[in-house]
Amino acid sequence: MSVKILGIESSCDETAASVVEDGRLVLSNVISSQIDIHTLYGGVVPEIASRKHVERISQVVDKALSDAKCSLSDIDAIAVTYGPGLVGPLLVGVSFAKSLSFASKIPLVPVHHIEGHICANFIENKELEPPFLCLVVSGGHTHLVMVHDYRDYEVLGKTRDDAAGEAFDKVARAIGLGYPGGPKLEKAALNGNHEAIEFPKAKVAGSVYDFSFSGLKSAVLNYINQCNMQNIEVVPEDIAACFQDAVTGVLADHAKAAIEEYKPKAFAVAGGVASNGALRDRLQKVCDECGIPFYKPSPILCTDNGVMIAAAGYHEYMAKNFAGLDLNAVPALKLGER
Ligand code: KG4
Ligand code: ZN
Repeated sequence: MSVKILGIESSCDETAASVVEDGRLVLSNVISSQIDIHTLYGGVVPEIASRKHVERISQVVDKALSDAKCSLSDIDAIAVTYGPGLVGPLLVGVSFAKSLSFASKIPLVPVHHIEGHICANFIENKELEPPFLCLVVSGGHTHLVMVHDYRDYEVLGKTRDDAAGEAFDKVARAIGLGYPGGPKLEKAALNGNHEAIEFPKAKVAGSVYDFSFSGLKSAVLNYINQCNMQNIEVVPEDIAACFQDAVTGVLADHAKAAIEEYKPKAFAVAGGVASNGALRDRLQKVCDECGIPFYKPSPILCTDNGVMIAAAGYHEYMAKNFAGLDLNAVPALKLGER
């Protein structure tokens, strides 16, 4: 008997729902992005995001069911992101999932957003199974994680300040690219001179695997200020290329060091920044050098989606980790916390 999970995601600026069978087979994937509205403000406005989720969540879930040719009675469990993320947006998904679970008597399973990102790797790589090492790079998180088993994660290193995606977004804004920063910066970098500026590759004292990106962000801002003071032309494409090289270089160096120490049998990447082509190329090179397979979700499964929540929800369901109607949003939920 197959297990069908309805996954619901609303932790930031995408309202998303999906039906996934046995944690691996996608039956539907509906994503309603709020990019257009937040672009007007240069970033995600939490109150607006919450309101848009309220407006859209019902249609998104209906479409996920109809695209999957399912009715609610075919669904074994409803999986919902309950953290980490923005509290208002999270509450919309959690409240909706709880109401649906109560009304339909379908069990509810709580999903950690970052575990969802990691589980996105199981969709297109049917052979991938734990243990493996995973680099999670999103707008709010930068984690090097040893995935010992499904639901068993060990954080080897994490960012001490800004997340990688946050650094992309802030630098993109500073060079006038606007929101959403990551994809726009990647595009600008294609036309930049990679030798133009040397930005520092930050190291963190006391931990080999921790990251720090705020120094790099400040170096970019200082460079722009200096150029302005000295009447030197600022070339956004050059900054984009050199900044992207610095960030992806640090991420790849840390990944390589962890692969050499922990000797995992496979390496995977996850999260919104994992859709960055330059990062994917560098990590592929590292894995080739180390002789292990490199797994990466398609870009549409790297950024926020309901598929990854349903995929992670499958393992919560199998472990019988059900949530009650007292489930609440936990904006700062830590990885591995339940
Ligand atoms: O995982 P995600 O969709 O949401 C969070 O959980 O945060 O990640 C969003 C982040 C944003 O910071 C965005 O700028 C970044 O991922 N991002 C990228 C690219 N696409 C999205 N960063 C660099 N290059 C990209 N192509
Ligand atoms: Zn995310």
